[in-house]
Amino acid sequence: MNLVFTGFMGSGKTAAGKIVAKKLGRSFYDTDEMIEKDSGFSIREIFEKSGEDIFRQIESKIIKKVSEFDNAVISCGGGVVLNPENIENLRKNGIVINLYASPEEIFERVKRNTCRPLLQCKNPLEKIKKLLEERKSAYANNDIAFNTDGLTLEQVANIIINNDVLNKKIKEGKK
Ligand code: S3P
Repeated sequence: MNLVFTGFMGSGKTAAGKIVAKKLGRSFYDTDEMIEKDSGFSIREIFEKSGEDIFRQIESKIIKKVSEFDNAVISCGGGVVLNPENIENLRKNGIVINLYASPEEIFERVKRNTCRPLLQCKNPLEKIKKLLEERKSAYANNDIAFNTDGLTLEQVANIIINNDVLNKKIKEGKK
């Protein structure tokens, strides 16, 4: 059974996911990193050269691949939830863990990063709010969700691995 992290950009999926993987002795995969490695292009370059639709197609292929893994920790790009088929695939052998934070905190976390094409705009905070609203129901498609506001990555990881509900799901091998 995989542990699959979903959530908006800057919600801590990759950084907290890595800590969780280390603490649990599981392998860690990040779907954006896999896309970059496979294609030889950065996420930003793929968006610029081929557009978002092509990026989403590549992303769904990677999701199919990681859905076949077992006992891994998988951090998904923030838009993976937009295609319900992705979540359906991930859930076959995975528990979907959603990380969330307030738009203001997300903005603080991502504002100096230029690698996220969707947030390279005039008013990133407004864009964050708009995307969060649009994606609300998609992010709700999870097995368990954690608020990461005001927490360090280490705290987020500890809260996750010590959560009784999650541990029961892992133990029972089902969602
Ligand atoms: C995206 C999130 C990014 C990356 C791409 C699109 C999104 O991943 O896949 O820039 O649509 O939310 P992170 O959530 O890891 O930043």
